Amino acid sequence: MKSIDDLKDFTGKRVLIRCDFNVPLQGDQITDDGRIRAALPTLTALRKGGARIVIMAHMGRPDGEVNMKYSLAPVAKRLGELMGVEVALAGDVVGDSATATVAALGDGDIALLENVRFEPGEASKDDAERYKLAQKYAQLGDIFVSDGFGVVHRKQASVYDVAKLLPAYSGYLVQAEVDVLRKLTVEPERPYVVILGGAKVADKLAVIDNLLKVADTLIIGGGMSYTFMKAQGYEIGKSLLDETKLDDCSGYIKQAEATGKKLLLPVDALTVGENAVDFSTFTLGGDIVETDMTALPSDRVGCDIGEKSAELFASEIAGAKTVFWNGPMGIFEIDSLAQGTKAIAKALVDSDAFSVVGGGDSAAAVRVFGYEDSQFGHISTGGGASLEYLEGKELPGLAVLEEA
Ligand code: 3PG
Repeated sequence: MKSIDDLKDFTGKRVLIRCDFNVPLQGDQITDDGRIRAALPTLTALRKGGARIVIMAHMGRPDGEVNMKYSLAPVAKRLGELMGVEVALAGDVVGDSATATVAALGDGDIALLENVRFEPGEASKDDAERYKLAQKYAQLGDIFVSDGFGVVHRKQASVYDVAKLLPAYSGYLVQAEVDVLRKLTVEPERPYVVILGGAKVADKLAVIDNLLKVADTLIIGGGMSYTFMKAQGYEIGKSLLDETKLDDCSGYIKQAEATGKKLLLPVDALTVGENAVDFSTFTLGGDIVETDMTALPSDRVGCDIGEKSAELFASEIAGAKTVFWNGPMGIFEIDSLAQGTKAIAKALVDSDAFSVVGGGDSAAAVRVFGYEDSQFGHISTGGGASLEYLEGKELPGLAVLEEA
């Protein structure tokens, strides 16, 4: 991949840069600005080099329609505060407002286009439609810089197609993320412990398959662990279950046994009554009962790992030299169900291992718990992107830079 360091002097050049500013919002308040901060090294270097910076980014999934609920206005404001300059937000993506905003830029100025996913072509499966939009993007820049690591697994117009139309370079964030993740796939220091959590087992199957080959210990917590328990014949009450994945889960348990890998599941859980959690407000009505994982009452829902599981997982992490963690252990947005996720974060901070936190939720969680990025080896800005990298998949947004 060609790096922006290969260019250095950008004076007078319009640099079209893709960032991942898909940050969590409550109303118009950004609750974790980690992804915006992660872009600062590249943006600062471009500004110092005299570039006229035109940023492309998305928020949520507005599915090709203009919906101001997904406007990048809060991002423009926060980025301006962090950079200490005004960030001009265009009123559209490739329309008259975008053209005028870019034309008004002086050297070192920054403009942000509106949410690229307001354009139907951005995430279209139709190559021609995407390419047509990419041609419009290309008119807004002289060179393209890819720095939105969190979207490099997406074959989308602002990530992939535009890189074929302009001289394309990688930014510092993409380079740093790739360097770290490569370390995890090529000779990680052992023992190498991977912790996977989150709700959806289906999303993690490919990564489990691949990580069982490279990791020494695979810890599975969070909502997905109940399908693994059910696959072994245990009662899981009303906890999350993906019936279509039971065979896969038993297959992985057998594969781990056959290859001498440790596959650890929670031994206890914090359970709540059915429908006790209101996911729109993240509030809990009703009591929490801690039970053994093998004795879950039929009317309860497991919503966090219990204390014994937290200790078991923490002791495994304490003995590791490399740790990768993706996905919360419970509903961490509710404080009383955040204990397991907090315990994992603390175990990572306390350990001497090279620790990588991957994924929007886990990354946001550790910051909400009050930890600093510097207390971990690396906090990846990519959720799906980091998992797909570890799965060994080709990521379109990286492949296109390598070809450039
Ligand atoms: C993310 O939040 O992981 C990235 O911004 C990608 O978002 P997407 O899954 O909607 O493509």
